[in-house]
Amino acid sequence: MNEWVIRQPDDWHVHLRDGVMMAAVVPFTARQCGRAIVMPNLVPPVTTVAQAASYRERILQALPEASQFEPLMTLYLTEQTTVAELAAAAQSPFIYAVKLYPAGATTNSDRGVRDPLSIDPLLAELERSGLPLLVHGEVVDGAVDIFDREAQFIERVLKPIMERFPRLKLVMEHITTQNAVDFVLSQPDNVGATITAHHLLYNRNALLVGGVHPHYYCLPVLKRESHRQALLSAATSGSFKFFMGTDSAPHTQANKESACGCAGAFTAYAALELYAEAFDQVGQLARLEAFTSLNGPRFYGLAPNEARIKLTRAAQTVPEFIPVGDSERLIPLRAGETLAWQAQRVE
Ligand code: NCD
Ligand code: ZN
Repeated sequence: MNEWVIRQPDDWHVHLRDGVMMAAVVPFTARQCGRAIVMPNLVPPVTTVAQAASYRERILQALPEASQFEPLMTLYLTEQTTVAELAAAAQSPFIYAVKLYPAGATTNSDRGVRDPLSIDPLLAELERSGLPLLVHGEVVDGAVDIFDREAQFIERVLKPIMERFPRLKLVMEHITTQNAVDFVLSQPDNVGATITAHHLLYNRNALLVGGVHPHYYCLPVLKRESHRQALLSAATSGSFKFFMGTDSAPHTQANKESACGCAGAFTAYAALELYAEAFDQVGQLARLEAFTSLNGPRFYGLAPNEARIKLTRAAQTVPEFIPVGDSERLIPLRAGETLAWQAQRVE
């Protein structure tokens, strides 16, 4: 297949940030995606329906003219979140999910939940309303090796939660291991998972061989090749449970290329092209549309997009950087390198 048309995708996990960074990145997501689940880990985090409403307005203001892009908002769970706030979120026409960050697990997660097994009233309310819970699935226990944190989270947290709340709608976010694939497949249809393009394309060698490559540092961290193969098999298996979530997470060049570099890879500028490359590697391009454009809406109970995107096997060069405000730069994944695919909106 060298050229074909698919339904427009949605990004079920993206960081759009705020201020000048948001202005720099929003057009990329809006160009490719009809909708996106917008992560709430701003500083301070988006914890109330009112804050989500005003963040949504700022995103709409930052969109290119005539854009039809729809931001799907989320709330950040804290230890102060109330059942009433979650009930209000479930009633809100623009809130589509609630995000659980174990405190300290990743960027701007310090206001998250220290013990996810201590929030049963909140989980009961989400199970009742059907509002999905999106989970960053890593333990923060300092005794657990960083490469084992996802697998441990499944055993210590996710399995007990699903035993207590079997009808909870739950998305395990940006999965990185065979363990996560097995867990998601072992659960009923109310449990799904997002997979990033970078976890489908790279293993931990990309981060660590021949020097430290900070633009390949993200959380959960890239894993060994056998796990990447498991993710590729899951994404291309035809299962409805797995769908596109880029976890595109922009940080400035200065914050990435630093003695203590931030976690996050910026992929939104060519998300679909990167996923196409991964599916092509295993001869499964025919399964791409389900993963990028059908399984996500199905999980969220929404109709797929009507717009179409044409994918063409034609080289494009990734820009060296994207300007942020007057003086800063954002380095996209694969900056200066070539991509094998081009995605274009069909008018
Ligand atoms: C994300 C960010 O920068 O906000 N970073 C990342 O490495 N993925 C946070 C997250 O999704 O873990
Ligand atoms: Zn993320």
